[in-house]
Amino acid sequence: MKHMTAFAALSAATLTATVAMAEPQAEVLHWWTSGGEAKAVAVLQKQFSDRGGVWTDMPVAGGGGDAAMSALRARVLSGNAPTAVQLKGPAIQEWYDEGVLADISDVAEAQHWDDVLPAQIAEHMKCDGHWCAAPVNVHRVNWVWANKSILEANGIEMPTTWEEFNAAADKLKAAGITPLAHGGQAWQDATIFETVVLGIGGPDFYQKALVDLDPDALTSDTMKSVFDEMRKLRGYVDDNFSGRDWNLATAMVMNGEAAFQIMGDWAKGEFLAAGKEPGVDFVCAPTPGDAGFLYNVDSFAMFKVDGKDKQDGQKLLAELIVGPSFQETFNLNKGSIPVRTDVSLDKFDDCAKKSAADMKADGAAGSLLPSMAHGMALHGAQSGAIMDVVTAHFNSDMSSDDAVKMLADAVANSM
Ligand code: GAL
Repeated sequence: MKHMTAFAALSAATLTATVAMAEPQAEVLHWWTSGGEAKAVAVLQKQFSDRGGVWTDMPVAGGGGDAAMSALRARVLSGNAPTAVQLKGPAIQEWYDEGVLADISDVAEAQHWDDVLPAQIAEHMKCDGHWCAAPVNVHRVNWVWANKSILEANGIEMPTTWEEFNAAADKLKAAGITPLAHGGQAWQDATIFETVVLGIGGPDFYQKALVDLDPDALTSDTMKSVFDEMRKLRGYVDDNFSGRDWNLATAMVMNGEAAFQIMGDWAKGEFLAAGKEPGVDFVCAPTPGDAGFLYNVDSFAMFKVDGKDKQDGQKLLAELIVGPSFQETFNLNKGSIPVRTDVSLDKFDDCAKKSAADMKADGAAGSLLPSMAHGMALHGAQSGAIMDVVTAHFNSDMSSDDAVKMLADAVANSM
């Protein structure tokens, strides 16, 4: 330094600053804060840092992401959008229509996303023909998780119909065991509800009722039977279910405090993070019914931001997210399956293998359906209207007749 001229010192400082500024930056808004979720998002953070990126974490706790979405709106309204946001389903196109999403087509095209992603899922990632989100995984929503030793001790098989589920639950209840671990939050009520719609009504009914919002389906006798079953399920939860987080409900199954949980396979991420083994400590099966796969694809959208460092960060994130190595490691932790069709499932467990096989079969049969409860099927106002009715019914003694009327009215008013 002693021999350096003032000019050289200044240039060195400028250079350091330039190098520092050139590091790809990403402020990432997500709601992955449970044990399994945090392990999974750490994979992305590590891969990003390994490639020289600087990660600023913006976790907003709250399963299902409602709180995260409120935080996002506040940030965008104040003109300070995060660089990357966990966003999914039609909300991606809604934000695009507001003119705030970045186009990531250059990365998608360079990485040939169209060749490695299922067409139905790629569609969710496009806005006006441009790529506007990067998919992370495929979660299946219609799963039942069970404590294996409770089932064995009570001579219970995994139920394949809702009648079998009710019979098993009645038996457990009589034995003093909480049949269903549940958290009374609107999105969790809706998660159960949509699996009952699928199971009782079948895939075509699910499509008509929860995707097309067909008034006849919403007020049908089938929908009344769905609410009848919801009323039964309400009788199978413990007294402290109100407001409970989903991962605490999963822990109840893990710890032998309850037999079953109906939840997407992020619950498997919790079991795995706690060192539990599928087939040994817990079992998985699709929720009762003959067919159908309710998918919930997590994805990240990049918001329009200034600064090359941030834009580089967005490109790097997009590239990593759809890359084969991230897809494998992340999904091993998250409980989901890779969204890429060319990633080997050798390291995945039997629940994941079943998910992938069913996804393929249901895809071919036309019964691969978007989850309403997880924002894949409808605009927020519409799914919100449905979820309000489901929760109001679950937490009262409303009749199924009244519930279907309220449902049809709420949906009509939300259009
Ligand atoms: C879902 C999300 C999953 C999982 C879950 C619970 O909506 O897609 O990745 O995080 O919420 O938080």
